[in-house]
Amino acid sequence: MKRSNTAARDAWANEARELGHRLTSAVSVVVLTGAGMSAESGLPTFRGGSGALWNDQRPEDLATPQAFDRDPKLVSTWYRERRVRAAAARPNAGHRALERLAKSLGSFTIVTQNVDGLHAEAGSADVVELHGSIRWSRCIACGDRKRGSLDGPLPDLCACGGLMRPDVVWFGEALSPPVWERAEGSAREASVFIVAGTSAAVYPAAGLVHIAKHAGAFVAEVNPEPTEASAICDLVVRAPVGAFFPELLAVVQQRS
Ligand SMILES: NC(=O)c1ccc[n+]([C@@H]2O[C@H](COP(=O)([O-])OP(=O)(O)OC[C@H]3O[C@@H](n4cnc5c(N)ncnc54)[C@H](O)[C@@H]3O)[C@@H](O)[C@H]2O)c1
Ligand SMILES: [Zn+2]
Repeated sequence: MKRSNTAARDAWANEARELGHRLTSAVSVVVLTGAGMSAESGLPTFRGGSGALWNDQRPEDLATPQAFDRDPKLVSTWYRERRVRAAAARPNAGHRALERLAKSLGSFTIVTQNVDGLHAEAGSADVVELHGSIRWSRCIACGDRKRGSLDGPLPDLCACGGLMRPDVVWFGEALSPPVWERAEGSAREASVFIVAGTSAAVYPAAGLVHIAKHAGAFVAEVNPEPTEASAICDLVVRAPVGAFFPELLAVVQQRS
């Protein structure tokens, strides 16, 4: 191992001890996750990396109601590819460690911006999916939901003849009010709030960090890169989730 790596790991070990100590005395814990949570499962993030462009299209230009109106086949094809990849992906060590942390601690809520369903697949029970799930589709005419198709012609049609769209929240769309209320309520009540694998640039999701901070939570970030949330964090851990969360779990299990 290179010296710089060893130094980084020593720093994570100290940070895991500090955060682990906070977690064992916390009344309620919230973890807000983003695309970086699933990067080590092989699913690309939006900003930077190999997933930044798809057929010369930017995700920000495909994940909109206007794009779907204009070209439902194109948008459905992009989502089909992502759905197939998500179905083939497996939860990584970070997802698995969060699931076990939840079992070791009392109140533990995961609020995710991810639409890949990997937290649930890792066995996490209390997951708020802010932006819905690409594993599901819903009819734009009658609202019926069904499992998103993995093959067959696109765009997919409902039994009523309406177009099926992915059951996700697109740019420019509002979050489901009950889903947002759950997320906001848990952020307000959090004694420790961890923001992991998100650039914290997409609102209202990123606003949860501010809500938690103003309500008095200890806020920690886990991300190899600086983000828009870094400045208000009480603790910043520059590590990938797949390395840091298992270390954090080990600290918590030792203490409890
Ligand atoms: N897997 C998914 O479901 C998926 C994938 C791409 C985008 N999205 C959607 O795109 C939007 C983009 O916002 P976002 O903030 O979630 O993603 P983002 O692409 O804007 O940012 C990803 C962040 O993850 C960090 N990161 C990369 N690898 C990491 C690792 N191993 N450990 C920890 N952090 C790591 C990066 O430094 C970056 O800050 C969201 O609304 C989300 O719904 C979802
Ligand atoms: Zn229908």
